[in-house]
Amino acid sequence: MTNDLGQPFADRLRAYQNRIERALPDLAGDLEPLTGGQVVTAARYSLLAGGKRIRPVLLLAVADMLQPDQDEPLSGRLIRFACALEMIHTYSLIHDDLPCMDDDDLRRGRPTCHKVYGEAMAVLAGDHLLNRAYEVMLAAIEPGRPETLLAAQRVSAAAGRSGMIGGQVLDLQAEKTRLSPDALERLHEMKTGALLAVPVEAAAVLCQAGQAVTEHLAAFGRHLGLAFQIRDDMLDLTADTKTLGKTAGKDQRDMKSTYVTLYGLEEAGRRLRQATAAAETSLNALDKDLDTSFLRNLARFLLRRSQ
Ligand code: IPE
Ligand code: IPE
Ligand code: MG
Ligand code: MG
Ligand code: MG
Repeated sequence: MTNDLGQPFADRLRAYQNRIERALPDLAGDLEPLTGGQVVTAARYSLLAGGKRIRPVLLLAVADMLQPDQDEPLSGRLIRFACALEMIHTYSLIHDDLPCMDDDDLRRGRPTCHKVYGEAMAVLAGDHLLNRAYEVMLAAIEPGRPETLLAAQRVSAAAGRSGMIGGQVLDLQAEKTRLSPDALERLHEMKTGALLAVPVEAAAVLCQAGQAVTEHLAAFGRHLGLAFQIRDDMLDLTADTKTLGKTAGKDQRDMKSTYVTLYGLEEAGRRLRQATAAAETSLNALDKDLDTSFLRNLARFLLRRSQ
């Protein structure tokens, strides 16, 4: 998958993923049975099941681009925010798969959390991951460093009713209806785009980037987030369940509003390429002072991803 993007890109992507895999288990909460251990077991089952880790990768990669020489306190803050984002994302997946939402049996190549631990425990496992994410971010906040509070506020907003949760509401309301192109774009930007854009923004905030750089990066994140969900919509139709690690073909079955159900596969592909190109264009203004090559390659990788 990453071959044609070059070995350095593949190695760097793998290195970021490895850093996240190493940090997540310690941050996910302990398994003490007297303090709710089973919920942590259920949460860890979903969290440590090998997702792509794109959101935390984005945060770490943007931070490395902005500040290649990080001191220990900064890199500690960055990994905490990165893992918090992955926990929020995994909670959103656990709840998204519940019978009352998308009713899916398979996630990250395994039976979904509620299939293994039951619906009640899956609800609580999602709740735990969300709360744990806040504990981890709050522990990284330093009174003398207002940017740490601002970054946490940005993450909270992206996860909430004007971001992911709001988008999930729109997604459910849009079942069996035909949305306007603008309404569908807004749905996608909220339910998925927000949690892909905010790692980029949070990295810029934590590294104290200037306003112009932050705005270009925010635009990159927004376009990338839309592209990511368009690709997800296309894979639902074109990929097989085994490769995806989640059930293929469910959007048609549930009459979801997606780029494929609204526009068809070919036009969805065109819009995906358009959003990816817009993401890359947003980086042009940064090229004078920063090495944007990893972010460009990541956008190209996500354009063609098969899972
Ligand atoms: C799947 O996200 C759900 C969407 C928001 C599209 P990912 O494709 O990032 O899933 P994982 O984390 O790799 O499992
Ligand atoms: C999920 O969108 C967005 C979330 C906030 C989890 P989908 O419902 O299309 O994600 P998949 O296809 O189940 O991963
Ligand atoms: Mg869904
Ligand atoms: Mg779903
Ligand atoms: Mg989907």
